[in-house]
Amino acid sequence: MSKGLKVITMAFISVFFVVFTFAMFATNSMAAGDAAKGDKIFKANCVVCHGDKGDGKGPAAAGMTPPPRNFTSPTDMKGIDDARLHKSIVEGRPGTPMVGFGKTLKPADIDDVIAYVKTFLKK
Ligand code: HEC
Repeated sequence: MSKGLKVITMAFISVFFVVFTFAMFATNSMAAGDAAKGDKIFKANCVVCHGDKGDGKGPAAAGMTPPPRNFTSPTDMKGIDDARLHKSIVEGRPGTPMVGFGKTLKPADIDDVIAYVKTFLKK
């Protein structure tokens, strides 16, 4: 291989790695959501029903059927993975007071509030 070709090959490989690393980082931080931002979104949109402790005892929850999900309960949250959290928050739960937020919240806000909802289980 000529020296010029080697330099070009190395340059290509370097650029590839920079782009690759950046892409990994970007997709990762997008999917993960920011729980600190989610906290604010939760307080503005969800506390009335789910409560500030996430236990489903918000001021509007009394007598609600079905009751708002208790995010602190491993039993209540069993089997509710990220995909289901996403679907329920975007589309709501038909036939229940849980409305969809797909029209009122931005996709990034939804990711952030999902990250926040998940912190209740670890507390
Ligand atoms: C008007 C009251 C109300 C508001 C406001 C509300 N929820 Fe709910 N939420 C409910 C009720 C009631 C349920 C239980 C639905 C069921 O049992 O299927 C529920 C269920 C859920 C679930 C569990 C869904 C599932 O798949 O089982 C999640 C997650 C959730 N809410 C997140 C949120 C988030 C995030 C917000 C704010 C962006 C929010 N909720 C706002 C009443 C509310």
